[in-house]
Amino acid sequence: MDRLQGVACPRLSRRLVVVGLACLALLAAALPAVASAARPGKAAIAAAHPLAVAAGEEVLAGGGNAFDAAVAVSAALAVVEPYASGLGGGGFWLLHLARGDRDVFIDGRETAPGAASATMYLDSGGQVIKGATLDGPLAAGIPGEPAALVHMAKRYGRLPLARSLAPAIRLAAEGIPVHERLQMGLRFRRKAMERSPALMAVFYPGGEAPAAGSLLRQPELAATLRRLAAGGFDGFYRGPTAAALVEGVRAGGGIWSPEDLAGYRVVEREPVRGRYRGVRITSAPLPSAGGIGLVDMLNILSGYDLGRLDPATRKHLIIEAMRRAYRDRSLYLGDPAFSQPPVEQLLSPFYAAGQRTSIRLDRATPSEVLAAAPADGSAGQDTTHFSILDAEGNRVAGTLSINTWYGSAFMPPGTGVLLNNEMDDFTVKPGTANAYDLLGAAANDIAPGKRMLSSMTPTFLESDRGVAILGTPGGSRIITMVLLAALDWVDGGDARSMVALRRFHHQFYPDVVEYESGAFTDAEIKALEALGHRLELGTRAYGNMNVITWDYATGRVGAASDPRSAGEAQVY
Ligand code: DON
Repeated sequence: MDRLQGVACPRLSRRLVVVGLACLALLAAALPAVASAARPGKAAIAAAHPLAVAAGEEVLAGGGNAFDAAVAVSAALAVVEPYASGLGGGGFWLLHLARGDRDVFIDGRETAPGAASATMYLDSGGQVIKGATLDGPLAAGIPGEPAALVHMAKRYGRLPLARSLAPAIRLAAEGIPVHERLQMGLRFRRKAMERSPALMAVFYPGGEAPAAGSLLRQPELAATLRRLAAGGFDGFYRGPTAAALVEGVRAGGGIWSPEDLAGYRVVEREPVRGRYRGVRITSAPLPSAGGIGLVDMLNILSGYDLGRLDPATRKHLIIEAMRRAYRDRSLYLGDPAFSQPPVEQLLSPFYAAGQRTSIRLDRATPSEVLAAAPADGSAGQDTTHFSILDAEGNRVAGTLSINTWYGSAFMPPGTGVLLNNEMDDFTVKPGTANAYDLLGAAANDIAPGKRMLSSMTPTFLESDRGVAILGTPGGSRIITMVLLAALDWVDGGDARSMVALRRFHHQFYPDVVEYESGAFTDAEIKALEALGHRLELGTRAYGNMNVITWDYATGRVGAASDPRSAGEAQVY
């Protein structure tokens, strides 16, 4: 109803009939837009693989709503992008329920097993054991995705879970064509995978890397999906699947127990909300740092008229906002069930005003003067994001992960489930960076049952103009990618420009701006370097953003998938 807010209607009286009629005419002019705002009449799906989009389409065509489609797309992604997300991992699903105009955040993040401890990855000398948080079942948190799919289907879907899982079951049983990213990840993770014979049997059939275009069948995953479809929560977290998971993990050196699985719970949370130049932001709350970081950066930037600044200064300020938000991420954020991060303060415009006072227009702030902490480490890969809008206006922004390429590279025999290595998202040792070069503090240390801090940022943007549904993988870079896309939408951009725009990123430590070719002009590079920024041209394409937009005035629904990858976006 926002579109009506700008229409000032003087009260009708006999003397003002004429004004009243004019007012009615004005309202009538606004009404078509309001009607379209209530119902797009079209659906759209944007996801990282065409077969996942097709799975969602099949479920929509069968009478499902956006939430059923989200179950179908999530499960299909587990099959077609096994390196990125799946039943052995977790994720966040941000839902908008058109009826009741309500937003719900489904937290299906992994949890630390009951036998986990703060020092579990340190040797007797207190040093981090190399690879322990990344390879093998000790690196795996208790999966949340299966529970989240059951929850979403039951509480918000229209179809039985089995119907929404059917496309994924078919894809796993009949096979999917081997594609480039799948092969690339296999090459990258081969060494770690060799320690998991069950995984090798699936992904290196006959001992060979599968050829491009050949069919990759995952019959054990199909069987696990069938047990989930038939038994719901108990079909995965209890019974034969759970037993095989625990047995495989323990035989491989992990510490899961049957109670860890049976005790897993999905949490529904209130999303983080913010405002920036007339745009309402709805995004991921803790245990994701995404929404807090996004809103904090936008709050900082709201103190400047970015559009009137020269491009180099504009980018300088965006980098300085990034630097400060990531500093706070490392210092304060973690699972709110275990500490009390100062969320209200971090989201407050007054706090952002304070942060602005340390920003100079004429030079970069060295990160070390904001807080000193050493960093080391290297970058990691993969995860997935999809966006869905249905004809009734229900929406889903889902970001799902098993963390780095092929997660822990471990598959418990008989399950077909590739386990995550999300334990690396905890602060394993203060001052030591994780796979994404992120630092953390006590708020994110390891404790039994605790959820590791995430950067995943499924987000809705809404204004009088319309709606955008967005998110991306990319580890620590997720939050800044969503920020840049949000700024683009605020400036009038559309789904296509949001996914395509050239990105840059700063995360406090290391104190460098990593950028994609084309993100800065030569003149901007010179100007930013003169301000004291250290710029590094990234060697890899980061992100795989999927965006849907719905314009109220025209009723147009747009969808776009990141040109850096092989996703698909469809409007129905
Ligand atoms: O939850 C997180 O922040 C990470 N596990 C996400 C990893 C990711 O996006 C990898 N993609 N490149």
